[in-house]
Amino acid sequence: MPIPDPLDPLQAVTHPDPYPYYAALARDRPLYHDARLGLWVASSPGAILEVMRHPAARVRPMAEPVPKGIAAGPAGALFGSFARMTDGAAHACSKRLLANFVARQAQHACSPAWPDPQTKSRADTTTDTGPDAVDVDHYLYAAPVHAQAAFLGLPAAVLAGCARDIRDFLAALPPAAAAPVIATGHAAASRLSARLHAHLQAPQASPALRELRLEGARAGLDPALLAANLVGLLFQSCEAGAGLLGNALVLSGRRGASSALTREQAQTLVDTALRDDPAIHNTRRFLAEPIDAGGQHIEAGATVLLVLAAAATVQPQAHWPFGALAHACPGRDLARQHAAGALRHLLQAGTDAAALAARFRYRALPNARIPQFAIPKDATP
Ligand code: HEM
Repeated sequence: MPIPDPLDPLQAVTHPDPYPYYAALARDRPLYHDARLGLWVASSPGAILEVMRHPAARVRPMAEPVPKGIAAGPAGALFGSFARMTDGAAHACSKRLLANFVARQAQHACSPAWPDPQTKSRADTTTDTGPDAVDVDHYLYAAPVHAQAAFLGLPAAVLAGCARDIRDFLAALPPAAAAPVIATGHAAASRLSARLHAHLQAPQASPALRELRLEGARAGLDPALLAANLVGLLFQSCEAGAGLLGNALVLSGRRGASSALTREQAQTLVDTALRDDPAIHNTRRFLAEPIDAGGQHIEAGATVLLVLAAAATVQPQAHWPFGALAHACPGRDLARQHAAGALRHLLQAGTDAAALAARFRYRALPNARIPQFAIPKDATP
């Protein structure tokens, strides 16, 4: 039986094959108001760029610069410092410094020590069956943060702790997060901020970090803000990295990739996943004032869903999965390389990609397409 099209662009994120729907959306309804979702939806490259360029289109709602649940505490302070979450001159300055830093650090970065995909002790098993679905789900989130933390020059001993803290921080962001989850998120945010602050200020910091310190001082930026933005690099790499790695793993399984995968083959799989089944499907902008775009008048206070994955069906060679213009992702090349390295490591550890690709579902997230392999036996994938 054919699978029905998604009903809206949020359902599309977890749909088995949303790409024909996205192509039709970008072609037929490049900018429209979705009454059911209560959102405006921009899906063609032109409409998305027009909204992104508008100075009234902000990355956070005016009334809620930080998610309410975490606002009063260290997680809120951290979140509010991220370049990703701010606009205007302050954003432009921290973004420039971060992009410079990433480019400089990339000249000296070495290959990370990947986390062991098999996290659980297998004392009860006599045969080595390779990582199972639970292991892989965990690895998808941990590996990108490990890689990013190693890229920042953090010592191997703290990489796993960073990955855990980023996940705890992420878990505290949804509006439905319970009080203990939020408390854990605050504690994680405090540890991350302190760790990256010490790392940035260390006398033996890498030349790129020292240059970041100097540029920050020249621009009059608080070192704590710079350190928070280094945490921001870990944060940004997590969910998007999990999606990229997971979708590349599914593709590997479908194509029968073996554990002897070369670096080049892994990179090709990751780049194919990026083009054909990207990790980030949409992002949002919040209107501080009314705007006219795509021949439509959109009221102040409206939210516009920018469907990057739909724009990518029109311009597959552009880098839509990484955003565009002022807030475009500065981590594109790193993300590609890290995902390829992590994929190879996972397959070399004996992961049965074909079995995983045969039964999984997507996590119920509004913007990121992340496969989940450990699902109850009776669940419909
Ligand atoms: C698969 C991996 C990744 C994907 C698909 C991805 C995608 C994106 C997208 C779509 C945006 C723009 C959001 C918007 O305009 O609203 C963005 C922003 C950002 N990304 Fe990535 N990203 C990935 C990995 C990384 C990594 C590894 C880093 C670390 C260097 C990173 C750092 C950032 C930062 C700092 C921003 C905010 C930039 C700004 O607001 O000016 N990302 N990313």
